[in-house]
Amino acid sequence: MMKTIEDIKQYKNQSAPLVCLTAYTARIAQILDRHCDLLLVGDTMGMILYGMDNTRGVTLDMMINHGKAVVRGAQNTCVIIDMPFGTYEHSPDQALKNAQMVMDETGANGVKLEGGADFAATIERLVSHGIPVVAHIGLLPQSVEDASGFKVQGKTDNDQQQLLKDAKSLEEAGASAIVIEATIDSVSALITRAVSIPTIGIGASAACDGQILVTEDMLGITGDHVPKFVKQYAHVSEDIEKAVALYADEVRTRTFPGEANLYKKKAS
Ligand code: KIV
Repeated sequence: MMKTIEDIKQYKNQSAPLVCLTAYTARIAQILDRHCDLLLVGDTMGMILYGMDNTRGVTLDMMINHGKAVVRGAQNTCVIIDMPFGTYEHSPDQALKNAQMVMDETGANGVKLEGGADFAATIERLVSHGIPVVAHIGLLPQSVEDASGFKVQGKTDNDQQQLLKDAKSLEEAGASAIVIEATIDSVSALITRAVSIPTIGIGASAACDGQILVTEDMLGITGDHVPKFVKQYAHVSEDIEKAVALYADEVRTRTFPGEANLYKKKAS
């Protein structure tokens, strides 16, 4: 049975943390589904699948189409869909209209949006209309225009206090969980202790209630720059490279297709 956001909330302070990854396609969702608790249809899709420089060019239609695919592939996991840049920041009304569309069209379990205390009213509005919301603090990729903006957060006492305030106000607003991205370990651990909803770390702390990575990063499918917080569990780009080189060679030498790959007329 598909995990709901209520199941995800039970992961607060558990010995076994929440296992989360991103997914953008049905087939990847099917594979991850056997091992994960939560799949995020993240707007990192813009950079990973569409070759964009940042996540700002991602549209609601893209999120909805990929969201539908992931929901089709996921049998057990809770599926959360990112609200893309420009679709929720203007007003709680704008956020509600667009989040409702994402929920209705995809059948996902909830949405995620980036931002601190400034978005408490927006989250309150979505939650009061039955839309579960995962918040996202620390490094906010939608606020960053190029790679130079990807900076670790929470380095000063002021930053730490602000992040703590943000987390508490998002919890009060009704967020179901909080993603903490690229934030000093001790600050992420402090936030985790301070709120009663699960925190999901990405470059945050082992003390978080769960962990998430971009699937292509941990599989080794992305480019040369690998952030420090990513552990690569495979080197799939290298496997693809080898396979494609072998295929090209076999086509050129007429080794492929071989007898096993051809349809033959049965002798009558
Ligand atoms: O868009 C995304 O993939 C995300 C993760 C990095 C948490 O927000």
